[in-house]
This record gives sequence, structure tokens and C-alpha cells, in this order.
Amino acid sequence: MDPHSYARPEEAAATHLDLDIHVDMKQHRIRGTATYNLKRQGGDSVIFDTDGLAIDKVTLGDGTPAAFTLSAKDSILGQALRVALPQGADKVAITYSTGAAAKALQWLAPEQTADKKFPFLFTQGEAILTRTWIPVQDSPGIRITYNARVTVPKELMAVMSATNPQERSTDGTYTFKMDKPIPPYLIALAVGDIHFKATGKRTGVYAERSMVDTAAWELADMEKMVEAAEALYGPYRWGRYDVIILPPSFPFGGMENPCLTFATPTIIAGDRSLTSLIAHELAHSWSGNLVTNATWDDFWLNEGFTVYFEHRITEALYGKDYNDMTSLLGYQDLLGTMAEIDSGKHAEDTALRLKLAGRNPDDGMTDVAYEKGYAFLRVIESKVGRAKFDAFLRGYFEHFSFRGITTDTFKTYISKELLVPEHVALNMDEWIEKPGLPANLVVPGSGKFKQVEGEIAHWAQGTPAKSLATAGWSTFEWMHFLRHLPSGLQKAQMDQLDAAFRFTASGNSEVLAAWLEQCIKNDYEAAYPKLEEFLTTVGRRKFLVPLYAGLMSTPKGRALAMQIYAKARGNYHSVSVNTVDQLLAWKENKPPVAF
Ligand code: BES
Ligand code: ZN
Repeated sequence: MDPHSYARPEEAAATHLDLDIHVDMKQHRIRGTATYNLKRQGGDSVIFDTDGLAIDKVTLGDGTPAAFTLSAKDSILGQALRVALPQGADKVAITYSTGAAAKALQWLAPEQTADKKFPFLFTQGEAILTRTWIPVQDSPGIRITYNARVTVPKELMAVMSATNPQERSTDGTYTFKMDKPIPPYLIALAVGDIHFKATGKRTGVYAERSMVDTAAWELADMEKMVEAAEALYGPYRWGRYDVIILPPSFPFGGMENPCLTFATPTIIAGDRSLTSLIAHELAHSWSGNLVTNATWDDFWLNEGFTVYFEHRITEALYGKDYNDMTSLLGYQDLLGTMAEIDSGKHAEDTALRLKLAGRNPDDGMTDVAYEKGYAFLRVIESKVGRAKFDAFLRGYFEHFSFRGITTDTFKTYISKELLVPEHVALNMDEWIEKPGLPANLVVPGSGKFKQVEGEIAHWAQGTPAKSLATAGWSTFEWMHFLRHLPSGLQKAQMDQLDAAFRFTASGNSEVLAAWLEQCIKNDYEAAYPKLEEFLTTVGRRKFLVPLYAGLMSTPKGRALAMQIYAKARGNYHSVSVNTVDQLLAWKENKPPVAF
């Protein structure tokens, strides 16, 4: 049972969706019909999840009207749409339109895009937002195939998590097909002045016109990543693998929508240094999209496995040093998250298996699933050896392909297939069910980072910044450097660092964000105009949270946070708004400032 869905698939489960919608870029509304094929096993109704949708009418397969009711609205789950089904009825068609505040959708004005000429729309379904733009059985344990017909203004193009066009249609009509069963959180749509450029025979990028060449250059390794992934864990099952670079308000680094990863433009650094994010989203084509967490309590099955797989892809392409550095950065993130959760009111969120019933799942989905999940898999790998662990994972992806599984199913499977035959003793329940970090965690080490620490020590002892041995440092060494600067830096010291390394002017979002955190800590006012510019253009939550949280720790910073957020809030997607509202205890009384 999924506590975040009203659906009762054991009575009537949707198996296929035919979506026929019109996207109104002026009214900010999607309107159309969702027609479902049903598999029935008893009961006299079918239940869908909806949130903020206006339901115009519901009919059965033969076109006759069907009786339906909407339950009272729950602030997290939305409303259950119950459609009465006569005996033998196996199809329903729901005609609906989206509400003004549909949480999955972000409607962008031209000014909020790269080229500033055309409006843009993107959707974000994970975790439980698909129900805000399609009436759907919105549980990750349910899978459907889909066909879609989408009409948009004819100067724009539409793309989805499915087979995609590579050129504009003449009339603004696009058709899509996803013939593999996917969980509903992976249904996705983007509409805008989108162009395509191939990067390989089955890989390519979509982006706004001015970005498409830059993006194709940055992501040139995509084809190699797919090959490396297949060599590790079996064939790529989804046909093409493309990436769309979205406008900067996209709330995540990436989202693994099948066939078409949605990505933030903040990975375009100009030096290909931030592309491990693509390895991550690609890895979800196995862990997550092929084998899916059955409920959001099992989220670590999606993300922990994906971080492990991501590291294996980047190790194959870029080597061990690279991987040691990214593993250690991830471990630092984990320690930060553990400390934060421990000081909050949900200490149980540091267990791998979550207990999110009654809560917004998004609030419990943290680095724990990613980095503690990764650390757990590294422990198993170290116990059985890579060859056996890889064989196990290949079998796992094959065995559970196109299925949702729970943590219990995983536990039973790994015991039977790996731990018992290999006579491995493993503190599995301590890792999965208990909060905190078990003592057998292997702390990643990095020789490269040792050298960085040496340079920080030199600087602290008086070597001028410009004389430090930083030649050849990658983004990761700079991140480690910035994260480990001594505390309580004076203005002159910050000036010196910025003069030597030009952090404030950095075009690398990770480096810039790490620097801005230091600027906040040390109240380095010279960087505040840049901080404001960053926070008002970028909506990627991972960057917003530490910056706003840093500001909130002093009265002066707090005032600045409020002032910036008042301008920036209208530019963020609902998931970032939800998080930052909580962080700032923001009470919205005026309408968001238009951009
Ligand atoms: N599936 C996630 C994004 C997500 C998580 C959306 C939870 C909604 C709820 C995606 O694969 C992801 O993990 N993105 C990361 C990047 C990654 C390299 C860790 C991100 O957005 O930063
Ligand atoms: Zn992920």
C-alpha cells in the first residue's frame, strides 16, 4: 500500500493512458482528455489521484457518461476521483483542465528563458505532482504505457518522456509514444522554442536556440556514458537517450524522465566538468525507471543505487581520482545532512527506509537516500568483491525490470541471491532500518584532496593566495578548497582570494555556489550583488537551500534573505518555493513579484 496515493490498483488498475491535451501558453492552462485502459479485479469503481484539477466530464469507453465523485481536498494528497464502473467497463475518459497553481507546472515568461523571446513550460512529476496536471493513479508502484497528442502554439515545440520529435511540426501538433510501462511520476512535458542537436547515434540534446550548440559540446560524452552503462549492467532499454537543457529555474539538477532527461543549465560550465549529473540521470534508466521504488518510503532504492551506478560510469570514463573526489564530496554532503536532520524534528529520516505517511514525501527525500544508500552499496561491494556485486546487480535489474519493488523485496532478494550463497554477514537492518551511520561505513579518501588541504594550510600560514599550487585543479578540488577555508575570514583575505581566483566571476555554478556560501559566512558584502543575481535567476533547490540557510543565521543576513526572496520567489518552481518558504518561515501576503 502506498500512503501517498488514493488509488486501489488491486481493484482497478490503469494500464495505458491516451492523453490528448492542448497547452495554452497565455492562460497557463492545460486542457484535454485522459483516456485509460483498465485492468479490473473486482470492485465497482476506479480511483484516480487529482490535485487542483477541474473535472469537466467522465465517460466510459462507449462514450456514455460515467458517475464520478471527488473527495475532500487533502493538502498533501489532493483529491480522489472515484469513477463508478458498470460491470465489464474497462475504459474511462476524463476531460479536465489544470488549475492556476498546478504544482508540477512552471510557466515561464520569455524573460525567464535563455533567449528571452518565447514562453516556456516544463513539468516536474516526482514525487507526487503528476496528479496536478493529469488525473492519474499516482503511485510509483503502478505502471502505465502512454500515447499523447499535444497541441502547442505553432512557433513552439513540445517534447515528452517518450519518443520525441527532432523538428518543428507545421501546425503545433505533436504525438508521442511510450510503449514501456512506466510509473506516473515519469510522465513529463516541456514546451518552448526548443531545438535539437545530435551528440551520437542514439543521444542528443534539446535546448533553446542559443544554447543548443554549447550544450551539445558540453555533453559530448553522452554516447560513451550509455556504452559504459550498458557494459556494466545490461542493455539500455529505452531506445534513445536525450537530454533537454531547461531554463535556470528548473528546481533540480536533473530529472530522469525516460528517453529525455530534464536538466538544469547550471551544469553547462564550459569545461565539461559537471557532466557526472548526466551519468546519474542516465543510470536511473536502470535504477529507478526499470526497477522502481514501490513507494516513496523506498526512495533509497532509486537514488542510492543510482549514485552507486553513476560513480561506476564516471569511474569508467574519467578514472579513479575523479571518483575518489566526487565520493568524498558526497560524503561531506552526507555528514552535513545527517547533522541537520539530527537537529530537526524528524530524526528518523536518517534511516534508509523512510516513514513518510502523512507527510509531504518531498520533505523527507534527502541526501540520506543518495549518499547513505551509496555508502551501503559500497560496503556490500567491498564484502563480496566487484565481480560478484556486478553480477548480482545485472541479475537484479533483469529480474525486477519494469516493476516497482519495496525495501523488503530487496532484502529478501539480496539475501537469497548474494549474501547467503557468498556466506556474507551483513548488518543490513542497521543500515536500512536504523537512523545514523553504521561503523562499517568506508570513508572515501582522496589523494588530490590531501594536496588541496596542504595548500589551504599554506595560505593560512601566510603564503599569498596567488602563490598557491593550484595549477590544474578541477572543479572538485576548488569545491573542496572552498568548503574547507578557515572560518572567520576578514574582508582583506576574501579580497585576496577573489583577486587571485576570480570566484565571484566564476561561470562554474558549483564553484560559485560554494564561494557564495563563504561570502555569507564571512559577511563579504562585495559579493552580495552576485549573490542576489544568482538567487534571482537560478531556481535549483540544492543551491538555494545552503545559501538561504546561511543568510538566516544572522539578523543582517535574514533581512537580506527576505529582501532577495521577495524578488526571487516568483521565479521559482513550486518545489523550491515549498522548501524556501519553510526555511524562511515565509508568509505570502502579496502576490509574487512578476519577473
Ligand atoms: N530523481 C532525482 C530528482 C528528484 C528527487 C526529484 C526527489 C523529485 C524528488 C534526480 O535523479 C536527482 O537525484 N537529481 C540530483 C542530481 C544528482 C547528480 C544527485 C539533483 O537534482 O541535484
Ligand atoms: Zn537521482
